[in-house]
Amino acid sequence: MEIWTPQSWRSKPILQQPTYQDAAQVSAVEAQLGKLPPLVFAGEIRDLHRQLAEVAQGKAFLLQGGDCAETFAEFNANKIRDTFQVLLQMAVVMTFAGGSPVVKIGRMAGQFAKPRSSDLETIGDVSLPSYRGDIINGNEFTAAARTPDPERMIKAYHQSSSTLNLLRAFAQGGFADLHKVHRWNLSFVKNSPLGERYQHLSDQIDQALTFMEACGINSTTTPQIRSTALYTSHEALLLGYEEALTRKDSLTDDWYNCSAHMIWIGDRTRQTDHAHVEFLRGVKNPIGIKVGPTTSSEDLIKLLDILNPENLAGRITLIARMGATQITEKLPPLVQLVQREGRSVVWSSDPMHGNTITASSGYKTRSVDAILQEIKGFFQVHSAEGTHAGGVHLEMTGHNVTECIGGAYQITEEGLADRYDTFCDPRLNGEQALELAFLIADTLKSARGK
Ligand code: PEP
Ligand code: CO
Repeated sequence: MEIWTPQSWRSKPILQQPTYQDAAQVSAVEAQLGKLPPLVFAGEIRDLHRQLAEVAQGKAFLLQGGDCAETFAEFNANKIRDTFQVLLQMAVVMTFAGGSPVVKIGRMAGQFAKPRSSDLETIGDVSLPSYRGDIINGNEFTAAARTPDPERMIKAYHQSSSTLNLLRAFAQGGFADLHKVHRWNLSFVKNSPLGERYQHLSDQIDQALTFMEACGINSTTTPQIRSTALYTSHEALLLGYEEALTRKDSLTDDWYNCSAHMIWIGDRTRQTDHAHVEFLRGVKNPIGIKVGPTTSSEDLIKLLDILNPENLAGRITLIARMGATQITEKLPPLVQLVQREGRSVVWSSDPMHGNTITASSGYKTRSVDAILQEIKGFFQVHSAEGTHAGGVHLEMTGHNVTECIGGAYQITEEGLADRYDTFCDPRLNGEQALELAFLIADTLKSARGK
C-alpha cells in the first residue's frame, strides 16, 4: 500500500465536496486552521478506543446521538444542555437494563458537513448549489447564501470549541449526577402518556439508587456518580477541514484527527479507492462506517482490510442503516461474513437514515414505529447470529421539535409544521428519544435473559 500522509487523499477521486470559488482563500483558511489548537486530545481518543473495544467484546453498549447537522443559528447553551441531558437520561436507563456500561458519543461539536443527493437544488426555474451544511454554505435559497465560503470553516471550528467546552463542564461539573438524571427520568415517566409502561424499570432504578445510598455510595463519596464522559463525533466529510485538524501525537508519533474523538464515513463516500477511505486509514481515531442496503460483502471486507489491517477491537464501528423493511434480510449475510472472517467490530444500528419518508404535506419525516422496528430487527438478527448488538446511532435533540411522526404524544403529519426546525433530516425530540431508550431497555433486558 502507498504511503499515507495527511494530504495523500488529495490525489484520489473525491465525492460530496463543495466547489469553492477561490482556491487560494481555501488554502489560507486551511493553513490558519492548521495553527489552531486541537479540539480533542489524543489520550482521550485512546480512552474511547479502549471503551469501544469493550463494546466490540460484548461488555458494553454504545449510545451515539445528536443533530443531523449543527447550525450557526441554533447554537446556544440551552440546546447543548438539553441534548446532553437526554443522552444522559437514555444512558441511565440502558445501563441499568443492560447491566453494562454505556459509552456515550454525541453527534455534536463538529457535525456540520452534509452529503447531498444532488449538487443543485431547483425551485421554479432557479437552480442553486445545494445546502451542504453551515461549515460550507447557508441554507437560505439565495445565490449569496449558497455560495461556498471557506471562512465558515473557522466559524465551525470556534463553535465546536465552545460546544466542547460546555460539554466538558456539564460532564464533570455536577450536571451529570446520577441522582439528578434519575429525577429527570421520574418526571418523564410521570408525565408521559405511556408512562405506565416505563414505571417498573424506573422503580427498579429508584430502588438501586436508594440501596447504593444506604451503602454510602453517593455523589460525595463516589466520583463516578457525579461525573461522566461524553465523546464527540461527526462525519469526516469535508476533508480539507479534517486534514487541518489532524495532528501528530507527541507521545506516540501517531496521527490523530483532533477535530473529534470518533469520526465516521458516510454511505455515499465509502468507495474503497476514493479520498475519504484514504484519509481515514491513516488516523488512529475510532472510525464508524455506514453500512447500507447497497454495501456488498466484497466492499465491506475491503474496507475492513484498508481501515483496520491489524483487526484492532474498538477501531471500527459498523453502523447499519438498512431501513425497517430491509434490516432482517440485508444485515444477516454481512454479520455472518464479519464473523466468518474473524473481524472485530462494534455493530451499531442507525434506524434513521433508511427510514426517511416524505409526508403528504411535503415535510421529510420518519415514523417512530419504523425506527423502533429497525432497532428490533437489528437486535433479532444479532440474537439469531449469536453476535453482540452493540449500539444505536440516532438523530435526536433535547428540544420539543415536531419532525418525526408518532410516539407517545402521537405527532401526526399535520402536526409536523408546528416546530419543524431541522435544515436537514428529521430528528427525534427529547421525549421520543427517551421512549426509545425505555423500549430498547426491554430488549437489552431480555438479551440478558432477565
Ligand atoms: C448522516 O448520518 O447524517 C448521514 C448522512 O447518514 P448516511 O451517510 O448513512 O446516509
Ligand atoms: Co442525517
